[in-house]
Amino acid sequence: MLIERPYWPFPRIIAHRGAGLLAPENTLAAIRYAANLGFAGVEFDVKLTADDVPILFHDETLERTTDGSGPVAETRFDIISQFDAGSWFANEYANEPVPAFAAASALCKEAGLWANVEIKPCPGRERETGRLVARMAKLLWSGAPLPPLLSSFSEDALDAAMAEAPELPRALLCTAIPADWEETLDRLRCVALHAACDQLTAKAAAEIQATERGVLAFTVNDSVSALELIEMGVDALVTDQIDHITQNFV
Ligand code: G3P
Ligand code: MG
Repeated sequence: MLIERPYWPFPRIIAHRGAGLLAPENTLAAIRYAANLGFAGVEFDVKLTADDVPILFHDETLERTTDGSGPVAETRFDIISQFDAGSWFANEYANEPVPAFAAASALCKEAGLWANVEIKPCPGRERETGRLVARMAKLLWSGAPLPPLLSSFSEDALDAAMAEAPELPRALLCTAIPADWEETLDRLRCVALHAACDQLTAKAAAEIQATERGVLAFTVNDSVSALELIEMGVDALVTDQIDHITQNFV
């Protein structure tokens, strides 16, 4: 029996940071990898450079995933874009750049991939990051059949995104589900809650879905947990194991 998911029109299995653990995270190469494996949706992290260019990047500093150093928030895009964001992962990805959000959007559209855009502000830049990412997402996906889903752990970022582009769907990210989740989702007009997979219970998922919202679990990295969560009724999974937990999983 086909279960209708009116509150989750998005793909159900989503590749984490582009291609999870199979390509350097948050790069165009990773997004291409997910597309080539047949994924329909990718998640990536977006924050601002010192000169306010939205880029795909997870950490607050450059060291772990590039050959540069220092805080992202204090480095201009023309500098960051020269760094190698691939060699730390594997030599075959040498000179893979840190992509601008606009380039990632163009690739997603070209490859037919839906995007879960995680707004991941550097500390103190929550509102401006939410505002600029939402403004750009609205322009970049104008006329797209399925809008990107903007998610964030930062309520301030989501609030600013709502003010800038109220029509773009939003989701609140959390590790433990907060006691006041319903009030927060109401206030930020979120269409979904994205919770750490080990924090979700069938009861919590059902309560959230009863408010006509989707439930996504992150980051689900083994097939047993994925099956349990699917049976629990969650709407979507974000996974690193994109070679095991594929689009055909559900
Ligand atoms: O969006 C789910 C997941 O990406 C949140 O954690 O740290 O991998 O961005 P993180
Ligand atoms: Mg993320």
